[in-house]
Amino acid sequence: MNIGIIGAGNIGSALATHLHRLGHRVRIANSRGPETLVDVSRKTGAEPVSLHEAASGVDLLVIAIPMKSVPFLPKNLLGSLPVSSPIIDTGNYYPVRDGRIAAIDSGMIESEWTSQVLGRPVIKAFNNIVADSLLHKAVPKGTKHRIALPVSGADPQQKRIVMQLIEAIGFDAMDTGLLAASWRYQPGTPAYCPDPTIDELPKLLDRAMRDKAPQNRDQAARIMAKLPPDFPPRELVQVARLSAGLDRMRLRSWFALLHFLVAGFVPL
Ligand SMILES: NC(=O)c1ccc[n+]([C@@H]2O[C@H](COP(=O)([O-])OP(=O)(O)OC[C@H]3O[C@@H](n4cnc5c(N)ncnc54)[C@H](OP(=O)(O)O)[C@@H]3O)[C@@H](O)[C@H]2O)c1
Repeated sequence: MNIGIIGAGNIGSALATHLHRLGHRVRIANSRGPETLVDVSRKTGAEPVSLHEAASGVDLLVIAIPMKSVPFLPKNLLGSLPVSSPIIDTGNYYPVRDGRIAAIDSGMIESEWTSQVLGRPVIKAFNNIVADSLLHKAVPKGTKHRIALPVSGADPQQKRIVMQLIEAIGFDAMDTGLLAASWRYQPGTPAYCPDPTIDELPKLLDRAMRDKAPQNRDQAARIMAKLPPDFPPRELVQVARLSAGLDRMRLRSWFALLHFLVAGFVPL
């Protein structure tokens, strides 16, 4: 496939690496122009292009930018994107980073907001896996502990394309229905970033509490903001698993939680 990726940070680069390795032709763009993407291109194999080139005529478009940036994408960006091409939205809403988005604060589903701003349907995927896991934990089908990723959206054909890509990259894909249900894996829910298996994921989605999620998200964000940049991502996953009710008997997870709280200067 011809694949465009908008956003060349943690998630955009990780996806570019996988998709290029799978043999797809990957173009990647950021806000500052292709000349700033030489290193990204060397690392991922993706071709640095302008925003318009990334979205023009591709079979699949990935949007991997902070939510606050979505309204600032060029207005005619998607004019040359075929209607049949899925748009993957990897975004998460963090008020501390994105500022307040009133519609989402009032309960609008994050990807429904993005879809409304873009004026096109989106498929929500890859938002609930930390970039380190996305880059390093892909494994062949059938491998024990293979991570499962939820996929939501309205168009069954587009969802099928995205789910096949997820499987090809090295994760199990689970169809979680329409975007309307995707609040179940937004930040602050049990399914957010615990690297669940396909057996664990449905239970975590069921356990999500919509009214509690924003508070959980903001509390986690406050701690995360104080963590050193080299805080081990695998410990973040261990903390997410513990918070989701998994691995309660694993001593190593409790050590990770202790490290997380101490590094984030939270009084115990
Ligand atoms: N990091 C994670 O582990 C993770 C996991 C799952 C989902 N997510 C979500 O995925 C999204 C991207 O996260 P990230 O961690 O990859 O972000 P990031 O590392 O900060 O990278 C953001 C990228 O977006 C680009 N960008 C920003 N504004 C833009 C604009 N107006 N037009 C075009 N490109 C723009 C930036 O380009 P410039 O530098 O040129 O501005 C940069 O390449 C966020 O919503 C995040 O919450 C992140």
